[in-house]
Amino acid sequence: MKSRMSSKLSSTKKVPVIDLGHLGLGQEPGQEEWQRVTRELYNALTEFGCSYLANHGVPDDQWRLLYDSTIAFFNLEQGKKDRYAFDADKLSGYIGMGSESYSGSTRELCEGLLARRTEQLPDEPEIPSLKPAAESFLKSCKELSERIMAALSLSLGKDPEHLLSIHKERGTDKNITTLRFNHYPPVPSTIPEGTFRFGAHRDFGTITFIFQDDCGGLQVQDSEGSWFDVTPVPGTIFLLAGEFLQFHSGEKFLAPTHKVLIPAGEEARGTARVSILYFVAPDNHIPMRPPGNPSTDTPMTVQEYITSSIKNAQK
Ligand SMILES: [Fe+2]
Repeated sequence: MKSRMSSKLSSTKKVPVIDLGHLGLGQEPGQEEWQRVTRELYNALTEFGCSYLANHGVPDDQWRLLYDSTIAFFNLEQGKKDRYAFDADKLSGYIGMGSESYSGSTRELCEGLLARRTEQLPDEPEIPSLKPAAESFLKSCKELSERIMAALSLSLGKDPEHLLSIHKERGTDKNITTLRFNHYPPVPSTIPEGTFRFGAHRDFGTITFIFQDDCGGLQVQDSEGSWFDVTPVPGTIFLLAGEFLQFHSGEKFLAPTHKVLIPAGEEARGTARVSILYFVAPDNHIPMRPPGNPSTDTPMTVQEYITSSIKNAQK
């Protein structure tokens, strides 16, 4: 029996789709729209810790070009990919299959590529569009995340600049906001019991944007411990709250545990899954405590917490 057979699956959960309307990129929202989106984000992140974002304004052709470039990178011969081996101090580079796990002992069929800035991405003749596509994509994600963080600040009763004021250093060495590409190759016909595409974990930072294809398999755990499917909704971004946001919101927002299963029949389909993730982290020096830890623990900085968590996951 493989990991897709979860014992506590509750497929009745309905994660809301939030229509950003004029809060999407390239538009100017009025006061009523700010209030609506603020309210809907508050409700979604307090109940689920996640939501879909529709009408986000990140251009479809921008995402499509980056998606195609991602596949081209992962299709390079292994020796070429290994030239860009992950550097845990720089938090950038290629993570090969089986060399990372955030969930302990589970077997995971995933390879990844991380970069905080586009110049950290690979240069190969087969992937001429990767850097330019990532550049424009990062710009869009940064701008959209600023709008979402303004709405989240308002939803916490704060000034709209509240969260932005602790995310000022994105794009520099003083902040570890990261773009990550995940490639899940076609599933072999026989795989060991308990194999996942990505094991259960929580994200560490403020928010994550997940751009997933139509393959499916992503699941989120609710506060009672039941898992529910995050079925791909075309044209949307999936928004997840991270541990810093849970801590910083006084535990109002939840950083949900999530994983990527192997959907039923995937071996027969023989398709790869690709997701592109934008992990928003506060500036390195900001203090935090991981949620659920006793308040007597000495706080650590965001940089200490996130880099040690990522280093611990490398095998
Ligand atoms: Fe995650």
